[in-house]
Amino acid sequence: MKRVDDFRLKFGKRELVPIMIGGMGVDISTAELALEAARLGGVGHISDAMLPTVSDRRYETDFVKTKLLQYKYNIDNSDKADVKFDLGHIAESTRLHVSKTMEAKRGSGMVFINCMEKLTMNAPKETLKVRLWEALSGGIDGVTLAAGLHLGSFALIEEHPRFRDVKLGIIVSSLRALQLFLRKNARTNRLPDYIVVEGPLAGGHLGFGLDDWMKYDLRTITNEIHQYLRDEKLDIPVIPAGGIFTGSDAVGFLEEGASAVQVATRFTVSKECGLPEDVQQEYFKASESDIEVNATSPTGYPMRMLKNSPSIGSGIRPGCESYGYLLDSTGHCDYIDAYNREVALHPDAKKIQVFDKTCLCTHMRNFKCWTCGHYTYRLKDTSRKAADGSYQLLTAEHIFKDYQFSTDNKIALPDA
Ligand SMILES: Cc1cc2nc3c(=O)[nH]c(=O)nc-3n(C[C@H](O)[C@H](O)[C@H](O)COP(=O)(O)O)c2cc1C
Repeated sequence: MKRVDDFRLKFGKRELVPIMIGGMGVDISTAELALEAARLGGVGHISDAMLPTVSDRRYETDFVKTKLLQYKYNIDNSDKADVKFDLGHIAESTRLHVSKTMEAKRGSGMVFINCMEKLTMNAPKETLKVRLWEALSGGIDGVTLAAGLHLGSFALIEEHPRFRDVKLGIIVSSLRALQLFLRKNARTNRLPDYIVVEGPLAGGHLGFGLDDWMKYDLRTITNEIHQYLRDEKLDIPVIPAGGIFTGSDAVGFLEEGASAVQVATRFTVSKECGLPEDVQQEYFKASESDIEVNATSPTGYPMRMLKNSPSIGSGIRPGCESYGYLLDSTGHCDYIDAYNREVALHPDAKKIQVFDKTCLCTHMRNFKCWTCGHYTYRLKDTSRKAADGSYQLLTAEHIFKDYQFSTDNKIALPDA
């Protein structure tokens, strides 16, 4: 009976434990979590989502306050075209978070950054370029371009001195998306170093339709991509993600040719995870019927979350003057329209509710949008329940080693 530890993820001569902890914004996959994965010989991810905000919380900077002061005059205006990011602030916060994380790295593994193209930040190309560029300058080991098309992203950092040595990977949810990426990116003469194939059971945003995600399955998509790469004689590590809950699930994919697996949900209940503990208890307690895929994210991508997420139905004022990470290149976000519609319909209401869209920036920042993977309802089987009904948090090391060494679909419980 094979274990995950019988396999290795190879990048050139470098060999790693083939476990990658996926990026979870906003600071849910913390530096502490990513560093544990690296210390144990695998790969961890920090996230580049909302780094000015994350930097304020972690390193006592005041990027959000400064931005709010600058744009305070616009708070009652539904047109947010004026609300721009200071590229210097994005650069500084990215450099700070990445370099501080990399300075703390120990062990033989690697730390990557998950980069969300969906964060259009009222100037998609300019802001993305700064985020990518500074992550490389800050010494990150690799960049994973999160689902979205990212067709021009490699070109944005082509001139960076580390362009050919940093690991660059992409997340795709279909063979078609991969083919499109390879075609558009051919000009840079730089293939991705790895391909994460994310199936429909993952947490966060999904690369499938709201009504048809359940028709797809990770194994089929992964096998199509393996076949395509073989046909094209392309030797690129393939890393499936989404619903890989036990070491044995992982071994199944590794035996079929995957180079590693990307996992996240199991680590949402680790001590190193950024979610507050009361939220982690909600994840533990959830049953299958408490989880849904909905369209409340203003990005237009379906998102999986707990049905009791405080973000659902919340009618807070759009927080673009402080945040504004989802404003498109014209300063527009679907939540602003939904909010204004409800305000117009209920002119005398003190508090309004908005159900179709959510102010994702504010709610992710405050851990009020409880995005999660499909198998969150199995987390209760991974820990011990105390007499008061709460569950014991796990260490990232415990979960990592359970993936690495377990067999027969067993899940090791923590010491009481
Ligand atoms: C709480 C949570 C937040 C996530 N946030 C992101 C994100 O910001 N960017 C991203 O590319 N993937 C995100 N994901 C997806 C994971 O990185 C990963 O690919 C996926 O969840 C793996 O499947 P699993 O959770 O079933 O193990 C998130 C997943 C979870 C559970």
